[in-house]
Amino acid sequence: MDGNGRWAAQKGWPRLVGHRRGAERVKQIVNAAPDLGIDWLTLYAFSTENWKRSTEEVLGLMGIFARYIEREAVTMAREGVRMRFIGARERLNPRLRGLMDKIEDRTAGNTRLNLTVAINYGGRDELARAAARLAGRIAAGEVAEADEDVLAACLDTAGHPDPDLVIRTSGEMRTSNFLPFQAAYAEYEFTPVLWPDFTPEHLASILERTATRARRFGTA
Ligand code: IPE
Ligand code: MG
Repeated sequence: MDGNGRWAAQKGWPRLVGHRRGAERVKQIVNAAPDLGIDWLTLYAFSTENWKRSTEEVLGLMGIFARYIEREAVTMAREGVRMRFIGARERLNPRLRGLMDKIEDRTAGNTRLNLTVAINYGGRDELARAAARLAGRIAAGEVAEADEDVLAACLDTAGHPDPDLVIRTSGEMRTSNFLPFQAAYAEYEFTPVLWPDFTPEHLASILERTATRARRFGTA
């Protein structure tokens, strides 16, 4: 989800206004996803690099995440959304972490949409943490040796399917440390639309266009 800051700047508003509008878009996209045939949706909300932003912006974003979880908890439970988080949690404030743990527990039985939110996520950081976990499991004799499946089971996304499609908004043509292991065979779509302007209709049209592409996973 990229482009919140530029969206606000274009209107002469503070960046946080863009983030707030972005959160409204998240609600709409989450709501529309199941009817578009999506049962796994991952949103990149905050990267390990985003701590470099101003304190005001970082705190503002953390506040938006906490409010989103609090306000959407009832709706998610009712609509069958299972919410999970990936990323390193230790650095997040304890109150936010508490909300994250609680919503994960509360929605654990839901199956209509698997919603994963990446907060303080970086693919390289995830791989480094996975390597440490893997070393621990080998040392404990739980696994004999490292292979792709064993490593995948040590990632934050253990048990999640790999993404079929990765969409980046706002015209940036980079993958920026998002699911580098898991998206090895994913399709990529880059749209110039800024995230606060990205509607379920935009998503539907991307899906329509990409669904027809044949994916071969290296076969002939
Ligand atoms: C994406 O919008 C939201 C987050 C990173 C949380 P940006 O904040 O990156 O917006 P731009 O790139 O400055 O427009
Ligand atoms: Mg950006």
